[in-house]
Amino acid sequence: MSYTPAPDRYQSIAYRRCGRSGLKLPPISLGLWHNFGHVDVLENCRQLLHLAFDSGITHFDLANNYGPPPGSAEENFGRILRQDFQGYRDQMIISTKAGYYMWEGPYGDWGSKKYLVSSLDQSLQRMGLSYVDIFYHHRPDPDTPLEETMTALDLIVRQGKALYVGLSNYPVEEATKALQMLRELGTPCLIHQPKYSMFERWVEGGLLDLLEKEGVGCIPFSPLAQGLLTDKYLEGIPADSRAAKPHGFLKANQVTEDKLNKIRQLHAIARQRDQTLAQMALAWLLKDPRVTSVLMGVSKPAQLSDALQCLTNTRFSEEELSRIETILQ
Ligand SMILES: NC(=O)c1ccc[n+]([C@@H]2O[C@H](COP(=O)([O-])OP(=O)(O)OC[C@H]3O[C@@H](n4cnc5c(N)ncnc54)[C@H](OP(=O)(O)O)[C@@H]3O)[C@@H](O)[C@H]2O)c1
Repeated sequence: MSYTPAPDRYQSIAYRRCGRSGLKLPPISLGLWHNFGHVDVLENCRQLLHLAFDSGITHFDLANNYGPPPGSAEENFGRILRQDFQGYRDQMIISTKAGYYMWEGPYGDWGSKKYLVSSLDQSLQRMGLSYVDIFYHHRPDPDTPLEETMTALDLIVRQGKALYVGLSNYPVEEATKALQMLRELGTPCLIHQPKYSMFERWVEGGLLDLLEKEGVGCIPFSPLAQGLLTDKYLEGIPADSRAAKPHGFLKANQVTEDKLNKIRQLHAIARQRDQTLAQMALAWLLKDPRVTSVLMGVSKPAQLSDALQCLTNTRFSEEELSRIETILQ
């Protein structure tokens, strides 16, 4: 069946400016870390991408190693782009990354210029693209000089292989230096991608302030703590959940009684707000204007439809916020 995007897809979403750049992103972006590999059902991947695009989601986030096997999410995404999204490339923001282990030998990991340039060339080939919109360094490298990694990002933009660059998982100190270097090179950092959710709040200790001061956007990943911040684990571990899959990064032993206790209490507050817990967890991040977009994952179309409803209420009363704080402590 051929795919025609919904004509009204841009009518319901308020796009957010990414830092002080010219680029706007949807408040919810779709990540392809899980559920888009060769181990997954391609037709489901297609349905998820169709629904996302039909709902006004224009931003799709990948990395060289997403799968499994590594690289297969980019291959599947490329296949679906060719099949269904011909003519829509200019309406999409596609990102990829390099920084984790990808291939054997000394040039397939971390942050050398050799690795970053080769890896992006491979990613472009897998996706069948001539450029990505955002290319990230996926994690800081303690051994490669920061100058080399930042110069590689600048080079990639000058080569026309990426329009913008981003940093992921950089703590405040490294981010401060990297942002300054990129600005001096003439390729200012567009966006930072940190792990941030109700259960993971390190960015509140200075990173968000830095990004605001520097005019850099912020796109939290795993905003639902890989599915913990939903109602799915309240009655045990469902067979089709990430925690039950052998290749899932969420392990069953991370679904602890302490977490479940918090999840139950948060779930009760969400219900009082007429939201699902997933909606409230996303809204809780989006209440902060420094957050450009939340980068979520989904395994089923219904999860995405559910999540999108969060946009109807991203406001919290002082009382709700303080009750949430008490639970999270
Ligand atoms: N930069 C980095 O280092 C880094 C690291 C990790 C992720 N990321 C990026 O962030 C993206 C999102 O990460 P994530 O997948 O961990 O995000 P997440 O949104 O925290 O978790 C996604 C999972 O939550 C569950 N879920 C989502 N919506 C739901 C709903 N409405 N109701 C019930 N369950 C729901 C699904 O679990 P089930 O699969 O169990 O159904 C889904 O797979 C990745 O795809 C990737 O692009 C980046």
